Amino acid sequence: MGFKKDFAWGVATSSQQIEGAYLEGGKGLNIWDVFSHEPTRIKDRKTSDVACDHYHLFREDVKLLRSLGVNSYRFSISWSRIFPNGVGEVSEDGVRFYSELIDELISNGIEPYITLFHWDYPYALYKKGGWLNDESVDWFKSYAAKVVELYSDRVTYFITFNEPQCFIGHGYLRGIHAPGIKLPYKDIFQMAHNVMKAHGAAVIAMREAAKRPIKIGYAPTCSAHYPATDSPEDIEAARRALFDSPKLSEQVMWSASWWSDPVILGKYPEDGLELYKDYLPEITEEDLRLMNQPLDFYAQNIYNGKEIKSGENGEPVAVKRPSDAPVTALGWSVTPRCLYWGPRFFTERYRLPFYISENGAATNDVLGADGKVHDEDRIKFLSTYLDEFERAADDGVDIRGYFLWSFMDNFEWAEGYGPRFGIVYTDYETMRRIPKDSAYWYKNYIEQKSKK
Ligand code: NOJ
Repeated sequence: MGFKKDFAWGVATSSQQIEGAYLEGGKGLNIWDVFSHEPTRIKDRKTSDVACDHYHLFREDVKLLRSLGVNSYRFSISWSRIFPNGVGEVSEDGVRFYSELIDELISNGIEPYITLFHWDYPYALYKKGGWLNDESVDWFKSYAAKVVELYSDRVTYFITFNEPQCFIGHGYLRGIHAPGIKLPYKDIFQMAHNVMKAHGAAVIAMREAAKRPIKIGYAPTCSAHYPATDSPEDIEAARRALFDSPKLSEQVMWSASWWSDPVILGKYPEDGLELYKDYLPEITEEDLRLMNQPLDFYAQNIYNGKEIKSGENGEPVAVKRPSDAPVTALGWSVTPRCLYWGPRFFTERYRLPFYISENGAATNDVLGADGKVHDEDRIKFLSTYLDEFERAADDGVDIRGYFLWSFMDNFEWAEGYGPRFGIVYTDYETMRRIPKDSAYWYKNYIEQKSKK
């Protein structure tokens, strides 16, 4: 069976990680601009001011995309490039930038997938309380509707939020991402509630603003746990490890069900409601109805998971990994089977067409004397993960696309420019882009899989 015929084969990026030009075209500051200028926040005191300079190089970048053989490209819009103050006045230069990027993609035969929010929250709105302010629901709704009004004549696919787990959990609870503060649980759950209301309100407004029928999805993340064996007990234990609510801790936002059950099923997970009851905002039926808007697809960023077996009374137990088990350059476990079980568990629970909106690896890439980057580790990673993903397709899981993270090496948030996730090497001195061996490998892979 394999991958469907009109499968979306793509690569992904986000605005803050590649664009640069942080003060050009009337763009307003966002929380990452401000955060990265603080002396101790980003490794080696780097900033995202220039990043990959994609703002100036986008035409060449789209040509490069085309040469990679992808038929789709997932990128995000910088909210404060369109609305410098988050709401109100629109920057025509910002509008033009994305319009030209979209035209360039389409004329090169590449389908744009727009993420509306990939963490770069307008600083002006942050100062007004950001996601803690109930008005944040309307702010996001207006921004989302504007983007759809502007581009839905040419763009079909939109994603509301990327990894809410991270931008709330890392940004406001652990304080390691922008804006870098540590708020009490009560505030964290309030923010999460507002983000999901903002999602729902945006979906309604986007459909109203659309010039043609559009397709809307959502792209959270998780650790996609998988069973140690195919026994029903282990499978059930892995499913529980994936969807059970985590205990209250700094990692509490790292939950699959807390962020997706309300959006897709219209209810919060019962176990979480019990665990977090002292910290939750008022949750009304109306709120839940708002969050729970019909979606066209469900996307998930998946990088790894834990191997789980069934313990006493069916409790999930993580299988100990051998000390020499493979890890990426960031020390993340390499666990290809998460790309079989993740899609399967998510489609069983949410029953929507499924995409991998991000998957990939940071590897220790060096530009060799031969002018090439021999990133065998990445090729191995991708081929083993994609084999598992294809197995899910073979078993009838309704998967529609795969977006490799990332198109090119870029600003890896608090980690700066050290980790290289791209299939294209970025020389940050010259801004030259050099396709790595994995880029040729991926091109060939797409060709083979698209043949049938
Ligand atoms: C998750 C995020 O969406 C993306 O911005 C980040 O660079 C990658 N994963 C790798 O950490």
